[in-house]
Amino acid sequence: MAITKKWWHDKVAYQIYPKSFRDTDGDGVGDLRGITQKLDYLKDLGIDILWICPVYPSPFVDQGYDISDYYDIDPAFGTMADLEELLAEAKKRDMYILMDLVINHCSDQHPWFRKALQDPFGKYGDYFYFRRGENGLPPSNTRSYFGGSTWEKVPGYEDLYYFHAYAAAQPDLNWENPEVLDELYTMVNWWLEKGVAGFRIDAIINIQKDISFPSYPPDGEDGMATVVRMVESVEGVNEKLQALKKNTFDRYDALTVGEVFNMRKDALDAFVGENGHFSTMFDFSVNCLSDGPGGWYRNREITFRDFRETLFHSQLECQGIGFLANFLENHDEPRGSSRYLPPCVRNEQGMKMLATVSILLRGIPFLFQGQEIGMTNCPMVSVEEYNDINTKAEYALCRQAGLSDREALNVCQRFSRDNGRTPMQWDASPNAGFTTGTPWLKVNPNYVDINVAEQEGREDSILNYYRRLIALRKSPEYREVFTYGEFVPLFREAENILAYRRVLEGRETVVIANFGPEEAVLPADTFRDHRLLLTNAPAETASGAITLKSAQVIVLGR
Ligand code: NOJ
Repeated sequence: MAITKKWWHDKVAYQIYPKSFRDTDGDGVGDLRGITQKLDYLKDLGIDILWICPVYPSPFVDQGYDISDYYDIDPAFGTMADLEELLAEAKKRDMYILMDLVINHCSDQHPWFRKALQDPFGKYGDYFYFRRGENGLPPSNTRSYFGGSTWEKVPGYEDLYYFHAYAAAQPDLNWENPEVLDELYTMVNWWLEKGVAGFRIDAIINIQKDISFPSYPPDGEDGMATVVRMVESVEGVNEKLQALKKNTFDRYDALTVGEVFNMRKDALDAFVGENGHFSTMFDFSVNCLSDGPGGWYRNREITFRDFRETLFHSQLECQGIGFLANFLENHDEPRGSSRYLPPCVRNEQGMKMLATVSILLRGIPFLFQGQEIGMTNCPMVSVEEYNDINTKAEYALCRQAGLSDREALNVCQRFSRDNGRTPMQWDASPNAGFTTGTPWLKVNPNYVDINVAEQEGREDSILNYYRRLIALRKSPEYREVFTYGEFVPLFREAENILAYRRVLEGRETVVIANFGPEEAVLPADTFRDHRLLLTNAPAETASGAITLKSAQVIVLGR
């Protein structure tokens, strides 16, 4: 099927977690001016699009994913003038800004919710889901994403509750109420008028749920069932998302990136096809591989084989339909190198290999701040050092399950969302050059070795490798094939090899990576006409064979 070309198809994106990117006023929290200051650094890396995590006013119960005013900037990040300056400076550099759109829920400090609490049966009560419980029990037995019931008691009422899929401080908005939809459409258009290029759209699948609020068979010892059940069991999300698109994004040719879990298996076309709800959506398939039956402490290690086959599956599944957004890291995940690289290749060379394999896939690459210098998970000495609401809940779950403090910390060390949220490591000066004040979250002690300044000055650094890699993806010769070329898996029978071709009208590129501990020798007859475009180690090609050292990747092209 022919795919209509769009302005974002050949772009490379970068996610900024503003709290931890760059602090310019010494309060220990990153800010918008810090992002503007680093635009040239990002441009030089090859970035076109920036996704900025929420910067709206918020009590920060869930780090800004609890918005108390959709039309302003939290003073911790600066002012609306700072945001406008960022937009203008980005435009000068042909760069695009995506805001984070959090519209499944807002903050309990949002005026809508405050008014709703004052009169749950009035106009604003209908902006949310208020329901009666019975005999001292909440209306249903669903468990929120952060643990505990999805129902919170309304102060001053005997048996009245409101619904929240995430924290109690994040009440869900009522998507069945046309007034709410009007408010949301108006707000989205207001931002698009301001000049943002689009949005990353948070938790969006949750807008459609079974609002008869049934109970489900319990799936845990707490007698509750995951809130996901309510989302999976209903129809109607397609209509809601099409209406959102028609009333907003479509009018501006906006780029939209859905955060979608639990999509129906056959719904790919509806979500990212030619007339799909979104321009693209994140491919979470490899992230989900570590999900256990509940609780991080029951999570699984990801094997290389599962990683490769899952990646191949999503690439093949989507290519006749649309574009996925590929990523290795984000603010909700541990650092990618500690997750997807087998221990034998968990080093600088391995990180470059993983980068190559990911960036050259079919789809829109998203880097997360710090990934370009190989930032790693951060060791925390005690649970107090963590800030994230989810990590604290998971730590408590570990302890309830009988794990010791040390064991519970080890679990958090592997899976905590704060692993990706520690301050950006700019240089080897105190606090990694992130702030002159006290950083809001611990700086990873390895900043003295891993930082931008050190890597700037070293030709073979991860940073300089990323620059070459992105430049190759965007080079006049290969841009089209890396953007629109067909994805074809290669050497699937080879145990530790991840390899694929990208093919388009006579052009071809080949990526071959050795994730194993031993040298690998592969037949090279079919690549006789190709030249070496990129490698992370000196390559050896003897007649008819390619030899790859452990953690080596090569990119060939013709
Ligand atoms: C997904 C966001 O990425 C995450 O950080 C947040 O906690 C939830 N959605 C709730 O908004």
